[in-house]
Amino acid sequence: MSVTVLIGTQWGDEGKGKIIDVLTEGSDVVVRYQGGNNAGHTVEIGSKKHVLHLIPSGILRDGKICVIGNGVVVDPRVLLEEIEELKKNGVDVENRLVISETAHVIFPYHRMLDKLKEGKKGVKKIGTTGRGIGPSYADKYARCGIRISDLICPELLKHKLEERLVDVNTILTKVYEENPVNLADIFDEFAAYGQKIKKFVVSGYSFINKAISGGKNVLCEGAQGTLLDIDHGTYPYVTSSNPTAGGACTGAGIGPTVIDKVVGVMKAYITRVGEGPFPTELDSALGEKVRKTGGEYGATTGRPRRCGWFDAVIGKYAVMINAISSLAITKLDVLDSMDEIKICTSYKYNGKVLEEFPPVLEVLKKCEPVYESFKGWNKDTTQCKKYSDLPERAQKYIKRISELVGSKPWIISVGPKRSQTFFVG
Ligand code: GDP
Ligand code: IMO
Ligand code: MG
Repeated sequence: MSVTVLIGTQWGDEGKGKIIDVLTEGSDVVVRYQGGNNAGHTVEIGSKKHVLHLIPSGILRDGKICVIGNGVVVDPRVLLEEIEELKKNGVDVENRLVISETAHVIFPYHRMLDKLKEGKKGVKKIGTTGRGIGPSYADKYARCGIRISDLICPELLKHKLEERLVDVNTILTKVYEENPVNLADIFDEFAAYGQKIKKFVVSGYSFINKAISGGKNVLCEGAQGTLLDIDHGTYPYVTSSNPTAGGACTGAGIGPTVIDKVVGVMKAYITRVGEGPFPTELDSALGEKVRKTGGEYGATTGRPRRCGWFDAVIGKYAVMINAISSLAITKLDVLDSMDEIKICTSYKYNGKVLEEFPPVLEVLKKCEPVYESFKGWNKDTTQCKKYSDLPERAQKYIKRISELVGSKPWIISVGPKRSQTFFVG
């Protein structure tokens, strides 16, 4: 029996989907514990590219059970589309997916409010994915959310929608001067989704804890990344959940003492989609080169990702607050044709050196990166099968990252395919 939590250490898109797929081979159950269809996890198998938004990436391995945990917000329309898409690609979902009855539901008014709020903020917008994530979590915490257990019971759904739409329509019409949403339309559409989803619905905490006590290997899949965490990220430029390791406990219904290992997925450079400070951002031709080489375009919204040098201040912070036990370093190959590569080792703020990450926006936006420079290896790493195959300078780069952030590499990824991955040591 083992419980592993896998998290993103940066601003998301670290290559979690690919690493989850690799680790699923040795797991029995894979649990998504937070976020919603703001996530885009890419897994390339042979010539086929799968992008998963809600269903855990473990679904692509035969026989593995996948759980959508209570901490996730579920847009049932997107879920059903994803199930259909997987079936079309020959992936059996029917007996391998379960959904926690206490996960919350995303309704069309959440998506509307997400977009309207962003529009109103103008230049101060967060750059959300527009999927209704923030408003759905806001309802959860304001204790007026509607859960999967309500969705699958038409009487409860009608009653709760009736209650909720009073306030929602007041906000839509009075604050945003929009048309109100129609109760009957939403009820008819969502009650039908509920009946389709019903067969997947279980008591999530019970299912997961029974798997653990039954000796199964459980892998908890984080979406987004440490710096998008509502508590520990670059607030307010964050998502509305806890992608950090602690989120696995609340979002799956497991206690911290059952967790054996926390794997931190760390891209060999760094990217961000959406607004907010980014100290090592390369707003230059070099940034464009990284974007092109790394294919850094959002898997959910298609937006170009902002690219920058590896930031060890962020890496060290992620290792600390997630208690990371080992690293999966991804996309090393993207740096194959660089003459010079830099790592940010500290920040300069108001003439002082900052060694620790400042999660306060007003400080972070004034931080200037202090760099250490490396000669690029200028060799193709995409065919490397083991650590010793890597060029010496690439090994030196990884070793330095490991020293600076305080955690050892366990997995190295040198391309998007399953085969372009190896374990260290
Ligand atoms: P996630 O959200 O963390 O799962 O990451 P995304 O799927 O949004 O973005 C990662 C992108 O990089 C995807 O297109 C992956 O196929 C790709 N990828 C993952 N690992 C590697 C790697 O080691 N090298 C390269 N070149 N691409 C990778
Ligand atoms: P994966 O799981 C990268 C970003 C959005 C925006 C902010 C808030 O693929 O790594 P939201 O819609 O969540 O309210 O948007 O968070 N964001 C992501 N960025 N990868 C993701 O997921 C993201 N999910 C949300 O771009 O800046
Ligand atoms: Mg992604």
